Amino acid sequence: MLDLAAFSLDDYATVLELAQRFRAMPVAGARKLPALQGRLMTSLFFEPSTRTRSSFELAAKRLSADVQSFSPSSSSLSKGESLLDTARTYVAMGANVLVVRHQCAGVPQGLARDLDQAGEGVAVLNAGDGLHSHPSQGLLDLFTLARHFNPQSPTPEALRGKRIVIVGDVLHSRVARSNLWALTACGAHVVLCGPPTLLPEAFAEFVVAPPPGQATDPVAERGTVTVVRSLDQALPGADAVMTLRLQKERMRQHLLTSLDQYHRQYGLTHQRLALCSPGVPVLHPGPVNRGVEMAGALLDDPNLSLVEEQVRNGIPIRMALLYLLAA
Ligand code: NCD
Repeated sequence: MLDLAAFSLDDYATVLELAQRFRAMPVAGARKLPALQGRLMTSLFFEPSTRTRSSFELAAKRLSADVQSFSPSSSSLSKGESLLDTARTYVAMGANVLVVRHQCAGVPQGLARDLDQAGEGVAVLNAGDGLHSHPSQGLLDLFTLARHFNPQSPTPEALRGKRIVIVGDVLHSRVARSNLWALTACGAHVVLCGPPTLLPEAFAEFVVAPPPGQATDPVAERGTVTVVRSLDQALPGADAVMTLRLQKERMRQHLLTSLDQYHRQYGLTHQRLALCSPGVPVLHPGPVNRGVEMAGALLDDPNLSLVEEQVRNGIPIRMALLYLLAA
């Protein structure tokens, strides 16, 4: 599970349907599902994480898997052991699924290829690689939107024809890239909004057919992607608005004049959101810089903010992925 560019509509439907079933299961007092009993999930995170790592681990536990995690700073990487040898060490301990996050694009893919070549029967799940891809986040965002538009039947069709605005630091966001594949696959029209330094014009052409490295596009007809510079022009007509964190740790040059100015131009507030129809929801993958990409009051508004709902939905989505890969 490396990249959503390879997902067909059936793949999205399968994941959403399973997630909907897992989400309906009572948690308190319920027995865990035995689906992954005797299976071992190992998380290899080379970058900080609050939500992704914890929800993968919780998802694995709810399916009765054993869970093991690795921290780079206290590992033998510091003694010169390679990433592949580190991964193979965990496979030798019995790992069935490796959940991998790395600051460099392509690491989970390279690891999956090398482990295949070494004949190791282990699944690799990409939990975020550099700027490239964050498939489980793309899927949980899709699930959250599908549930918002059609709570009874959150299928990919729930997104067809919807206008989804993604605003902010698109350039540094693997979440935006995964959302672009997922949302266009389901027939949504994505409007990207941000300053030229954080949203190059070329993003309008980001979704290509066939996707890079693939012979064909598994999706017959995709929604569109457009770039709009002014938030006030992007918002009217939106069905949902997603904002992204300014990824300062990935910015090499001075891409912004000031955080204040950024907030004035691209920050989401109640006042700004009034340009949309009443009740249009706001999403953010987290972690949020309050008062920068989004006003604190909007983040905390239970009528408009789906941010906690995204976190909740991350668990059944990751249960679905682990189930499909390891059951
Ligand atoms: C995102 C990530 O790590 O790519 N967070 C997440 O997984 N929920 C986005 C971010 O760090 O801003």
